[in-house]
Amino acid sequence: MPRPKVFVARRIPDEGLNAISAACDVDVWPNQLPPSADVLRERVKDCDGLVSLLTDRVDAALLDAAPRLKVVSNFAVGFNNVDVPACTQRSVCVGNTPGVLTDATADIAVTLLLNAARRLGESANDAKAGRWLTWEPLGWLGQDLAGRTLGIVGMGRIGFATAKRLHHGWGMKVLYTKRSASPEAEKELSAKRVELDELLAQSDFVSVHADMNPSTKGMFSAAQFKKMKRTAVFVNTARGPLVDQPALAEALRSGTIFAAGLDVTEPEPLPPEHELYALPNCVIAPHIASATIDTRNAMARLCANNLLAGVRGEPLPNWVNPDVAATRRKA
Ligand code: GLV
Repeated sequence: MPRPKVFVARRIPDEGLNAISAACDVDVWPNQLPPSADVLRERVKDCDGLVSLLTDRVDAALLDAAPRLKVVSNFAVGFNNVDVPACTQRSVCVGNTPGVLTDATADIAVTLLLNAARRLGESANDAKAGRWLTWEPLGWLGQDLAGRTLGIVGMGRIGFATAKRLHHGWGMKVLYTKRSASPEAEKELSAKRVELDELLAQSDFVSVHADMNPSTKGMFSAAQFKKMKRTAVFVNTARGPLVDQPALAEALRSGTIFAAGLDVTEPEPLPPEHELYALPNCVIAPHIASATIDTRNAMARLCANNLLAGVRGEPLPNWVNPDVAATRRKA
C-alpha cells in the first residue's frame, strides 16, 4: 500500500515530525511565515493528511481542492481556524491538542495578570528609558492580588488551572461563568458560578478562557468594560476576536479599567503602530501561551498521533468531530 501523503504547514518539533515522517511521505512548509491560501490549496490537493496551525484557514475551498484528505490535525487546542462543519460534511476528521498546554497557558495568564497589575512592563520600560529618577512613594502603584476576587470567563481546563494557581497561591475568591456548573471548581476552589454581568461587577481580575465562536465574538465591548471596576485588570489568553479592541483601548485610556494583559489580539501579529502598544497600562505578548519546550513537544506528539490515526482510519486520540466516524474517508 502506498504511504499516505501529508502536508505539514510549518516545521513542528521533531517529536511529532519524526513520527509522521516514519509513516508518511511528508511535505513540510519550510518558511517562517504561513503559506498563502492559494499555496496551501495547491500543496494539499493530493494529500491524505494535513497538519495545520492556528494561522492556517481550513475552509470549504481548501477542502474541495483536496478530495483525498482524511484528516486535519490542528497543532493547537483552539480550532476556530478550521471550519469543522465543512470538514464533517466532507467526511474529514479533525483533531486538536487539548490538555498538554493547559499548565503553560495558565502560567501565561497569571504572568500577564501579575505584570499588568504591578505595572511591570511599564516600570521596566521607564527604568530602561532613564525615567527611574529615585525611589518614589507614589510611583508605579499597582493592584494587590492577595484575597481579591478573580472572575474566570469560561471555566474549562485552562480557566480551572488559572483559578487554581490564583486561589491557592493568592487566596483569591473565584467567580466563574460556564454553560453548565463545574463541580470540580466549586469543590476544589470554592468557586461560584454567576452571570457574566455579576462577574464583571464583582471581580478585581477578569481572565478570559472562552471558546471563540460566532456567539462569543466581540463579547467584551464598551458595555462590558463599563461594568467592570475602575481598578480591574483584564486578561485574555483565549482568542483576540473575543474582544472589541477599540473599546478595550478606550477603556484603558479613559481609566474605565486599570490595565490589561493580552496574549492574543486581532489581527495577529498586531502591527507595531497599533494604538494598544502605546498604552502604558496594556501589556501584549505575541501569542506565546503554549511556548515552552516540553509543551510544544507534547503538542507535536499529540498532533502526530491524531494525524496518523486519521490517515490509518483509526479513532483520533483527540477527535473534534467524532460524529464523522461512520462516514469518514477510508484509505
Ligand atoms: C493556542 O492558542 C492554541 O489554541 O493552542
